[in-house]
Amino acid sequence: MVEAYVHGYSEQEAARLHDQADTLASLLHHDTLYPAGATVLEAGCGVGAQTQFLAANSPEARITSVDISAASLAKAQELVQQKGFKNVRFQTADLFHLPFARESFDHVFVCFVLEHLPNPIEALQCLRQVLKPGGTLTVIEGDHGSTYFHPESPAARETIQCLIEMQARLGGNSLIGRQLYPLLCAAGFERPAVSPRMVYVDGSKPAWIEGFTRNTFIAMVEGVRDQAISANLITPERWEQGIGELKRSSASDGVFCYTFFKAVARKA
Ligand SMILES: C[S@@+](CC[C@H](N)C(=O)[O-])C[C@H]1O[C@@H](n2cnc3c(N)ncnc32)[C@H](O)[C@@H]1O
Repeated sequence: MVEAYVHGYSEQEAARLHDQADTLASLLHHDTLYPAGATVLEAGCGVGAQTQFLAANSPEARITSVDISAASLAKAQELVQQKGFKNVRFQTADLFHLPFARESFDHVFVCFVLEHLPNPIEALQCLRQVLKPGGTLTVIEGDHGSTYFHPESPAARETIQCLIEMQARLGGNSLIGRQLYPLLCAAGFERPAVSPRMVYVDGSKPAWIEGFTRNTFIAMVEGVRDQAISANLITPERWEQGIGELKRSSASDGVFCYTFFKAVARKA
């Protein structure tokens, strides 16, 4: 179990991961299609929020999904069983000590994991080891510095900065999306291709307001309230003001923008 995980393992966090994955499925997954018979390792699958889309989009690929949290894996397994997917197996594993032979997977997929690790290059090198030559690694990360919204609000920005700071204090990096290209090169991957995936939400997109702005992003910021106040990063009054003003961006006349980064890199 990772103790230093800024979002924690609560039921609310599990629900937030599902809202995030469900809302973003087409934006992030439409171009990840693995061929029949391909072996795919999903590292850090959590509660299976992305696993279900991997399994649905590549029904004839053989997916192995691992996580360090046995409790999260149990939820992932239950979800995949409920949905009737037969092409996924689950295993508890630390991605830094993977229980697989070198060069045993055709593809690796990792989503929203590197941002929580103090040593993402080492993580990528460990994933590269289990990849066959010619295989690909797909990595998706967010970047909280890519957030902008209307109406603008310094207090709202301070709440987001609290999340960035708390994650950094735990050894993570929530600005990692913009760094995927240099990280992948440093880990020895060939020709990484990075594509920014921007989420733009205005009053004409009520499903995105609910699924992304409120239930994914604002819920994630709200999750560090107590930690940020205890660390004296912000006062309770300034926090309430900031969250209130951040929520204004999800009103019918508000606008919210965020960019995810998806990279596909090859092992020579
Ligand atoms: C933010 S969650 C993302 C889960 C999932 N990929 C998703 O997008 O919904 C990060 C996950 O990485 C897992 N994790 C962190 N460090 C890990 C490690 N060293 N090995 C395996 N999993 C790890 C955590 O347990 C957690 O489930």
